[in-house]
Amino acid sequence: MAARKRGAKSVNRSGAAGGSKWEDHLTRRARAENYPARSVYKLKEIQQKFRIIQKGDVVLDLGCAPGSWLLYASKQTGPKGHVFGIDIQSVAMDLPANVTVIQKDILDMTDQAFFDPVSGCRVVLSDMAPATTGRKDVDAFRSFELCRMALETVDRFLVANGHFVCKIFQGNDFARFEKQVKQRFKESRVFKPESCRKQSKEIYIIAKQKRST
Ligand SMILES: C[S@@+](CC[C@H](N)C(=O)[O-])C[C@H]1O[C@@H](n2cnc3c(N)ncnc32)[C@H](O)[C@@H]1O
Repeated sequence: MAARKRGAKSVNRSGAAGGSKWEDHLTRRARAENYPARSVYKLKEIQQKFRIIQKGDVVLDLGCAPGSWLLYASKQTGPKGHVFGIDIQSVAMDLPANVTVIQKDILDMTDQAFFDPVSGCRVVLSDMAPATTGRKDVDAFRSFELCRMALETVDRFLVANGHFVCKIFQGNDFARFEKQVKQRFKESRVFKPESCRKQSKEIYIIAKQKRST
């Protein structure tokens, strides 16, 4: 890590302190605000810019552990909405009353009791990420595979005019995935939140208004 003079700070476009100090700040801030991960600020930026989640919405959150997006999304939907989360890892925190989670691989969508109420949801979020290997091409391919599965859940469960947010690692398959999203939605944008680690290859596709089939 590069040495920084005491008191010296880099400043990013939003005026916040940059580099590792900024990352530490976000992690501390998440803890102080009772979120289990700093990733909450990515969804917050997306929500503030694109207004994806409305009060009363049913939301499906893919790759939901440790649970920051679940908590933030449940506040956005309010008690009349519901957030369903799925992850291969368990979610350890106490969940609000309007959140239901199952521990499952996204490849296995067989739990009828969980998936029946998800049908016709207004929003699909995917923050899924593979365990990284350090090989950028392998990691990007695995990320693409998860995105393909996320798109299958969109085809299966998302209502017409519903919205989709999906994390993808930039790589060879990115353009192909973006094209598949564009075929299904009236609007789509590529967005990198300020709170993403600068060295990270992750980026988000924000797609609004699913076309009717
Ligand atoms: C960056 S974390 C998500 C953080 C979450 N959005 C939050 O705010 O707490 C990525 C998650 O994707 C999950 N994941 C990876 N592959 C998966 C799969 N095949 N099925 C379900 N979840 C998966 C991982 O277990 C991990 O918890």
